Amino acid sequence: MRMSVIGCGYLGAVHAAAMASIGHDVVGIDTDEAKVCALAAGTAPFFEPGLSEILQTGVAGHNLRFTTDIRAAAGSDVHFVSVGTPQQAGGYAADLTYVDAAMDGLLPHLRPGDVVAGKSTVPVGTAAGLARRVRDTGATLAWNPEFLREGWAVKDTIDPDRIVVGVETVDGSPTEHGARAIEQLRDAYRPAVEKQTPFLVTDYATAELVKVAANAFLATKISFINAMAEISEATGADVTLLADAIGHDGRIGRRFLGAGIGFGGGCLPKDIRAFAARAEELGRSESVAFLREMDAINLRRRERAVQLVLEALDGSVHGKRIAVLGASFKPHSDDIRDSPALDVAVRLHGLGGQVVVTDPAALDNARRVHPHLTYIDDRDAALRDADVVVLVTEWDEYRRQMPPEHAASLVRGKVVVDGRNCLDAAAWRAAGWRYFGMGRP
Ligand code: UGA
Repeated sequence: MRMSVIGCGYLGAVHAAAMASIGHDVVGIDTDEAKVCALAAGTAPFFEPGLSEILQTGVAGHNLRFTTDIRAAAGSDVHFVSVGTPQQAGGYAADLTYVDAAMDGLLPHLRPGDVVAGKSTVPVGTAAGLARRVRDTGATLAWNPEFLREGWAVKDTIDPDRIVVGVETVDGSPTEHGARAIEQLRDAYRPAVEKQTPFLVTDYATAELVKVAANAFLATKISFINAMAEISEATGADVTLLADAIGHDGRIGRRFLGAGIGFGGGCLPKDIRAFAARAEELGRSESVAFLREMDAINLRRRERAVQLVLEALDGSVHGKRIAVLGASFKPHSDDIRDSPALDVAVRLHGLGGQVVVTDPAALDNARRVHPHLTYIDDRDAALRDADVVVLVTEWDEYRRQMPPEHAASLVRGKVVVDGRNCLDAAAWRAAGWRYFGMGRP
């Protein structure tokens, strides 16, 4: 199929390359010239395992190209809209400027029979509004949310665990145009469909809600276990053992019960806020009032990590050398948007600590946003002479490939704050360290 992908950020760049890798003829379109140049040269503009390989194959095979010219969308059968929907500058709601601009640019180039597939995360009700404008061109709008995780984005796009397509419905059934759009998207995702990947057809509102409900659930799961960490701290219990024990219940499950400094990134924080803002507009703020609580619990955990560092250093970080391991919001990513790791580093710096941040992938991004912090590429150089080590992103370089005896030979003070509860506390203590976990005795 011929496809256009409008918006080549974390989502769109991967989507374009992944669609090319399964044999489609794809053009990626973005207004950022530097990004388009990099992508057109087969270079991933951000760190995402496996992306460079499929980009290069697609570009070399001439079935993947990138441009800033929206007119290149003309002639595609399916147009994926994957632009960002960040948090509004002065509020919690989503900023739809980029979605509106993408649609304004795309509409003149649509042909009757084309499918526009919205992938951006939008407030429920957005698709119904856009559908009318798309319909006027003879094309059809589908809403096709994306569930990829950064760090696993290529795999999640080519081999998703479900595909959700929202279309226009009448009395619960797709309209004729909606049914045609569904068939087009089945073709677009042929390899996954042939593998019997669940393919769920819904109305627009449900498809939009599936996305925000999934992220709200994941955020809630993390904040739930972090609330249990707070209670553990007040009682001497160990939240990691608690999570193991409740996680054995198949109805609960152990995944996303990792207590620590909480969630960040470009999705969960802004999505739960936008969801709460939209619910308020709908007169249903009480239905998701708990999301504000989840947000608050999440933000408290960053402060708790800072407190632990203060406790470990007898009340003051002033003049102390603090090795912060990690800057990205999670491992296998260079994304620092709303990163809890960097937030902890910035707070410690604000308290007068001599903060040295290291990270295998995110230092360039971190340097741009927080130029006042000190950054060191080499992990061991960052550890050298540290009075305290603060692990805030659970990269393998720290959790698996940093023996406590080796780290002990580099630092001044054998004190470690494990903001992700990912180190073997017993092994670190046995090597002479004072170990502080989150919600652990
Ligand atoms: C999230 C969702 O997991 C994806 O399904 C969704 O498609 C994506 O948002 C999106 O909306 O585009 P992502 O932002 O890549 O994906 O990151 P997650 O893996 O969900 O992690 C989010 C944050 O939660 C990270 O900061 C991570 O460190 C933290 N986390 C995760 C915990 O604190 N504890 C856990 O147990 C798990």
